[in-house]
Amino acid sequence: MKTVSICFICLGNICRSPTAEGVMRRLVEEAKLSERILIDSAGTGDWHIGHPPDERAQHAARGRGYDLAALRGRQIAGIDFERFDLLIAMDDKNVAALRQVCPPEQQDKIRLLMEFVPEADARWGGAREVVDPYFGGAEGFEEVLDQCEAACRGLIAALRPQLIG
Ligand code: 4NP
Repeated sequence: MKTVSICFICLGNICRSPTAEGVMRRLVEEAKLSERILIDSAGTGDWHIGHPPDERAQHAARGRGYDLAALRGRQIAGIDFERFDLLIAMDDKNVAALRQVCPPEQQDKIRLLMEFVPEADARWGGAREVVDPYFGGAEGFEEVLDQCEAACRGLIAALRPQLIG
């Protein structure tokens, strides 16, 4: 059975990447692809290792039926570049931080989440990044959810052809 493994990456692994993980898990379950699409998340920084997702991220996610409570922050490690097929970053700074520690032969695995938003979806005007909500208000966490939902739908559609067979 063909599988693909994905790690979502942000800075702290307490706001954006756990949100992407929670959204992706649900959409993958709904698509009956849980055995084929393996999902994790990590941060490029080390401040929140072992911490649950930010309470604001959990609250916003709960409002849409996603439960992030069991997730814990961790930092990206060298082995992750071998373990995962795709490392999907939230912003350009995450990409730059990943590129510094990623072996040259694995660099093609690094992508931006917003690349997977379908072109027809003009809500973010072709934005490249999921903006860091940490120092802002509650609306930032809702926007992160909107972006994760749109991009993860596109990501599943992009992965389907490689999961056939
Ligand atoms: P995240 O958000 O990268 O989406 O998890 C942040 C979490 C923590 C910090 C910054 C961004 N921080 O500065 O501690």
